[in-house]
Amino acid sequence: MEIIQDIREMQRRASELRLQGRRIAVVPTMGAFHEGHLALMRMARQRADVVIATLFVNPLQFGPNEDYERYPRDWEGDLHKADSVGVNILFAPAVEAMYPNGYQTYVVVTELSRPLEGAIRPGHFRGVTTVVTKLFHLTCPHVAVFGQKDAQQALIIRRMVRDLNFDIEVLIHPIVREPDGLAMSSRNVYLSAEERAQAPALYRSLRWAEEAIRAGERNPEKVIEGMRRILRREAPLGHIDYVAVCDTETLDELVELRPGREVLVALAVRFGSTRLLDNVLLTVPE
Ligand code: PAJ
Repeated sequence: MEIIQDIREMQRRASELRLQGRRIAVVPTMGAFHEGHLALMRMARQRADVVIATLFVNPLQFGPNEDYERYPRDWEGDLHKADSVGVNILFAPAVEAMYPNGYQTYVVVTELSRPLEGAIRPGHFRGVTTVVTKLFHLTCPHVAVFGQKDAQQALIIRRMVRDLNFDIEVLIHPIVREPDGLAMSSRNVYLSAEERAQAPALYRSLRWAEEAIRAGERNPEKVIEGMRRILRREAPLGHIDYVAVCDTETLDELVELRPGREVLVALAVRFGSTRLLDNVLLTVPE
């Protein structure tokens, strides 16, 4: 596996690969790789000739009171893991190179960045869409792979790619989970033993929602109420940031569950300062 830290070198390498007619897939990440990241890389491996994983803890997407400084970092482990799943190039630029003095250009997807995570983390998605735009320009991919774990992020990136005419195919990999259902996340390592034991309640509440809708529940408020009840009972250490039943394209909160409709049920729960996200996509039965 090739390691590239220099921005100009990455651009040169990417255009060279394109001239050779190679199909490039990129997997943007912030490192501390777990099976979720590796699954995205394997998907990229199947869809392209050259897989570039980017590793950049992007300060722009962290709020002033968030965990940028203590975001988990594992350079040696990451190199080994990325190499083992067939990543060809690991691109890990320096912060000063990505955002030199005088930097002042941003990419914003307006509407989709407002609700859910956007309401709780102002500026977060501006940081994401700006860095992903830069990473796209630097790696010139034909394909880009993201995870459904961050459902709103995936939707925003799809929107941005369409709106700004990026000639890139966006693939979304399903959520990779621990055996007990907890969605894998770099931040899971922050959980205390007690919090970790309660964390699978997030997925249980989502499964309950799926089951309730399958059984005929058509009132989103009832679904949300039931989920909150489960979370309060089974994850008392968690603080619920939101539980939402949304349209899968606009993220508008739904007032009724019409048969045939695709629905995103999403939640965020905070254990101490560690925020966990999870979601399920489902189709309301006829
Ligand atoms: P990061 O949190 O490192 O995640 C990198 C990619 O892995 C994202 O597309 C995320 O959705 C996906 N991912 C994480 N956990 C997953 C899981 N359990 N199952 C499936 N996919 C999972 O998301 C970011 O970094 C950043 O915002 C980034 C897009 C790199 C921009 O800085």
